[in-house]
Amino acid sequence: MTSAGLTAKRGGPLRGRVRAPGDKSISHRSLILGALARGTTEIEGLLEGDDVLRTAAAMRSFGAKVERLGEGRWRVEGAGGFSEPSDVIDCGNAGTGVRLIMGAMAGFPFAATFTGDESLRGRPMRRVLGPLSQMGATFMGRSNGRLPLTLQGGELKHLSYRLPEPSAQVKSAVLLAGLHAQGGAQVIEPEATRDHTERMLRAFGAVVEVQDKPDGRWITLPGGQTLTGTKVRVPGDPSSAAFPLVAALVTPGSEVTVEGVLLNELRTGLFTTLQEMGGDLVISNVREESGEPVGDITARHSMLKGVSVPPERAPSMIDEYPILAVAAAFADGSTAMRGIGEMRVKESDRIALMAAGLAACGVGVEEEPEGLIVVGAARGNHAVAGGAEVTTKGDHRIAMSHLVMGLAADAPIAVDEPGMIATSFPGFVELMRGMGAEIS
Ligand code: S3P
Repeated sequence: MTSAGLTAKRGGPLRGRVRAPGDKSISHRSLILGALARGTTEIEGLLEGDDVLRTAAAMRSFGAKVERLGEGRWRVEGAGGFSEPSDVIDCGNAGTGVRLIMGAMAGFPFAATFTGDESLRGRPMRRVLGPLSQMGATFMGRSNGRLPLTLQGGELKHLSYRLPEPSAQVKSAVLLAGLHAQGGAQVIEPEATRDHTERMLRAFGAVVEVQDKPDGRWITLPGGQTLTGTKVRVPGDPSSAAFPLVAALVTPGSEVTVEGVLLNELRTGLFTTLQEMGGDLVISNVREESGEPVGDITARHSMLKGVSVPPERAPSMIDEYPILAVAAAFADGSTAMRGIGEMRVKESDRIALMAAGLAACGVGVEEEPEGLIVVGAARGNHAVAGGAEVTTKGDHRIAMSHLVMGLAADAPIAVDEPGMIATSFPGFVELMRGMGAEIS
């Protein structure tokens, strides 16, 4: 997708109270579980970004009735299982969408063909196809298991699978396949990853056992279970809230509150890290919605200092390193981000693109195979030069991160392909402008 670029430049302070769009991970899951379940699922606060709309369309293709009732309000009538789609399933830019849907369909006796945009067609699918094959599904695709590919589902057998990389998508694909496998499925994760699938399976009436053992978290889904439709309220996405919050931290005089943000501790590594950097982030009004903790977060402009982010924190903030790198660019001293090799197989190679974008904006940066070191205060006095046009390779988070950097840099920063921002954060530019940001 190409569209005219966007430029962010320094202006006055940012102020306001905003709501982040619905959580992307929970939005995908609510549609997929709703479609697998028997009965009605009512969803409130669904993220209406392109990634999730693709999953909604896919669920229709697999036989569910999916209706939009109003802004963020959706109803899914599940048939208690999937039926054969009559056309190719195009998941657009969404890795979560395609990987979870492949898991969900693997236990049904038909084939489905999946594809996606250029970015998704370049991403590794073997990590999901490996365990699904061990359970009994077969596939044929491009080299290295890339999309487009056809997955043949059928009778599955039980699998106990130890995750080779920390991936909630792979964990979720195995658990969803386990719903229709003889004896269910078990996943062992050495490092805990986001647990929305486990929580939501329970909300749909399934039993999921979780045990923390010395070698990791053991998640067991007993076989022979059925799901029943339910009500889901999707909290605000912490990965999206991150952009206005970091913008406030780095823009002098700012104070911004984002309301209703998901505070699941497997998602909040960025907020912990920003507080360790000296960021004035205050969390208030903590409550529970649909089995998930949520709260309001207020950020005020702060003098940040560089930190070393513990590598074991990576799964709880894996999508947030690009915007953390921007905060780090305005901090005093170096910020070391290590153990983040997974960043290279996201919507783009995010280590490489952040390193290139930061360097183009005059920020000191070192790229490592599985790490990124940002040297803050490149020219002293907490300043970033800016004045660059940054290549995003169609990655929404690379685009938003650089626009936030442009709000506090000496010279404007432009990004290409801003249309892709709508995959996860439709209305981002309007929301930022509403707080006083100069983005055009
Ligand atoms: C997600 C898991 C993460 C994350 C992605 C959403 C999910 O991916 O980067 O944006 O909803 O399960 P991995 O499972 O590949 O780490």
